[in-house]
Amino acid sequence: MWPDLIGKSKDGGLDVIETYVFWNLHEPVQGQYDFEGRKDLVRFVKTVAAAGLYVHLRIGPYACAEWNYGGFPVWLHFIPGIEFRTDNEPFKKEMQRFTAKIVDVMKQEKLYASQGGPIILSQIENEYGNVEAAYGPAAKTYVNWSASMATSLDTGVPWVMCQQSDAPDPIINTCNGFYCDQFTPNSNQKPKIWTENWSGWFLDFGGRVPYRPVEDLAFAVARFFQRGGTFQNYYMYHGGTNFGRSSGGPFISTSYDYDAPIDEYGIVRQPKWGHLRDLHKAIKLCEKALIATDPAYTSLGPNLEAHVYKTSSGTCAAFLANVNSNSDATVTFYGKTYYLPAWSVSVLPDCENVVFNTAQINSQATLSETKYVKTYSHESDQPIFTSEISEPGWKYVQEPVGISKTSAFKREGLLEQINTTADASDYLWYSISVNITGNEPFLFNGTQSILHVESLGHVLHSFVNGQSTGTGIGNSDNVNVILDTTVTLVPGKNIIDLLSVTVGLQNYGAHFDLSGAGVTGPVLLMGLNDRIDLSSNLWTYQIGLRGEDSGLPDYSKNSPIWISEDPLPKNSPLIWYMTDFDAPAGNDPVAIEFTGMRKGMAWVNGESIGRYWPAYLAPQTGCSSCNYRGTYGSSKCLKNCGKPSQTLYHVPRSFIQPGKNKLILFEEMGGDPTKISFTTRQTTSLCGYISESHPAPVDAWNTAKNQLPVLHLECPPYSNQVISSVKFASFGTPSGTCGSYKHGKCRGSSALAIVQRACVGAKSCDVEVSTKLFGDPCANVSKSLAVEAACS
Ligand code: GAL
Repeated sequence: MWPDLIGKSKDGGLDVIETYVFWNLHEPVQGQYDFEGRKDLVRFVKTVAAAGLYVHLRIGPYACAEWNYGGFPVWLHFIPGIEFRTDNEPFKKEMQRFTAKIVDVMKQEKLYASQGGPIILSQIENEYGNVEAAYGPAAKTYVNWSASMATSLDTGVPWVMCQQSDAPDPIINTCNGFYCDQFTPNSNQKPKIWTENWSGWFLDFGGRVPYRPVEDLAFAVARFFQRGGTFQNYYMYHGGTNFGRSSGGPFISTSYDYDAPIDEYGIVRQPKWGHLRDLHKAIKLCEKALIATDPAYTSLGPNLEAHVYKTSSGTCAAFLANVNSNSDATVTFYGKTYYLPAWSVSVLPDCENVVFNTAQINSQATLSETKYVKTYSHESDQPIFTSEISEPGWKYVQEPVGISKTSAFKREGLLEQINTTADASDYLWYSISVNITGNEPFLFNGTQSILHVESLGHVLHSFVNGQSTGTGIGNSDNVNVILDTTVTLVPGKNIIDLLSVTVGLQNYGAHFDLSGAGVTGPVLLMGLNDRIDLSSNLWTYQIGLRGEDSGLPDYSKNSPIWISEDPLPKNSPLIWYMTDFDAPAGNDPVAIEFTGMRKGMAWVNGESIGRYWPAYLAPQTGCSSCNYRGTYGSSKCLKNCGKPSQTLYHVPRSFIQPGKNKLILFEEMGGDPTKISFTTRQTTSLCGYISESHPAPVDAWNTAKNQLPVLHLECPPYSNQVISSVKFASFGTPSGTCGSYKHGKCRGSSALAIVQRACVGAKSCDVEVSTKLFGDPCANVSKSLAVEAACS
């Protein structure tokens, strides 16, 4: 996907691709580096260079990034005497070795700009300033050590530290956040750099889906350049998918879509991508002035600001801002009047004409739809369902409840999970046997008791004598689990099995590397008046599942233990499922819809597509409509309340081969795999909503100033599609959003015919938004044109 994503970034107006370097990807085992396939960092950097773009390489090696353990390999934790991210010799030794290794790999390939390559910046550490206080006086020594260690690697290009106001020279301290216009670096010799402009926010399993309106994002970017910014990076421009067990958290979802301008599937998200592209063009029209001088500020009234970049030779560019979140304004600037919508910035590349306003979107919007794909059973080669994989194609293996591996071991007391599994698996079994005579005071009704289990998280499944007795689930705010479940015991031996499951290791916070998981106790059996505490008894432990050990996810093994039996067991826990499917036709991105399943992991042709968890619903409330005006925060704009946080799981086309493919699932809680369906993502509508007050398209700037606004529609590039129909067109006072436009009181009669004539049959079309073209249905009213069209 890299060339396509990088191409779309370049078309969107980016100059630099910023990427983290994940230590745990590249050194999964201490001393064994891995740069193969998707981990081929050199190839990635060269692909960016081939597109003509630069690179900012954020080596870290601590990353955060909602990535498992913040990017640290878990083996690091087991080095004797180690303390992460402080003045600690074992840690510094490893950090230096990995950083030097990455620098060396880049240097060997001559990838630094100082060698003629694309890398113009590198990052050491990540937002250490946010947590530094918790590390005491050693923190400062560590910051200085990091700085001089990085500098000594002699890359010939600058290093940055983000969120590190005390970054020592020559390290440039940079800003991360939703807004960074107020930021100033710690020396006037350093440029004002914004390393993370959060284009949206990440999603948790069990959480609502966050989004950030592009009017606000564009406002933040324009404000940054208005106030002397030099380099701004979107975090994320494309967030993609956390395949495998790469999500951190705990509880970060598999989708890392982030509401980014290029969505999880690699499709441009409109109008976000297009509006930012227009903004980037507008800012680049100001480039000469921006790089020649610092801005001069003038107030145009309360909350109304002008910043002018003007050189003695007369080059002039200006940014006019209305930072009031409620009222639109009309301002006078250099003798002319300008309309400034609330919470917006206008860009004037010649200090006179407005080429762009952050609140007025000229870019088209699109509607995408998920279409179900016909799949065929290979056994019968017949289309069976249109939306489901055929049931007869499924095989299964039951994962045993409790201890089933010879590597199991016994310990007195309860073990912390991460120290026990070293994160080799999400799963750890805790098993104990209890003898019952029937007279125990912790029983009631002769056979029943309450099983009480306390765990550091993240998910706990309990079983008594092989039967499921309940699940406890943490969430991103409180990862701990307290389970109280009524269990029935039998005279004689009873086996209690607890399956503790991690959902991504912590990635953020001071000493995050030490946060534990798993059953830490107490584990009690409680009657009405009495209880026994099993916590310090002898427990049996099993790391991981038997199916993992037998290589069930490895599709090539075609293990004979897969059973095809009618009926297929459904809605019962701990089952591995397997089926064949045909590659969905066409080139549209593919996702699996996991409705019917509850929680587990999925593999396509042996590639893990991540953890799935459609059974975890977002809270019912908190999704009220969101106004882009005013300060944004990660919980301001949320959608999907009451629904599964994630039902669609991306399967990159590159994981799928023509013809027969294999899907393997491990379901923890009990689901029905026959309900799973394959889907493709397709653009179904193009929309535009342009008002007479909008500036002319930024591309018109070089041909003539003061042109009229234009509504532009364009079918997806790289397709042979043309605009086939105009579903809606209205000139006057239409309302609504793409897919649900409505005519207003004021409405010309000829809009549909005019737009049809201009657009149908064409790959793209431009329609001027003016009374000259549409006539005037209502004088002295500001009018808009709204259009929804389809391509085929
Ligand atoms: C920042 C961090 C990033 C990412 C982001 C939130 O604090 O540097 O790596 O975690 O927050 O998405």
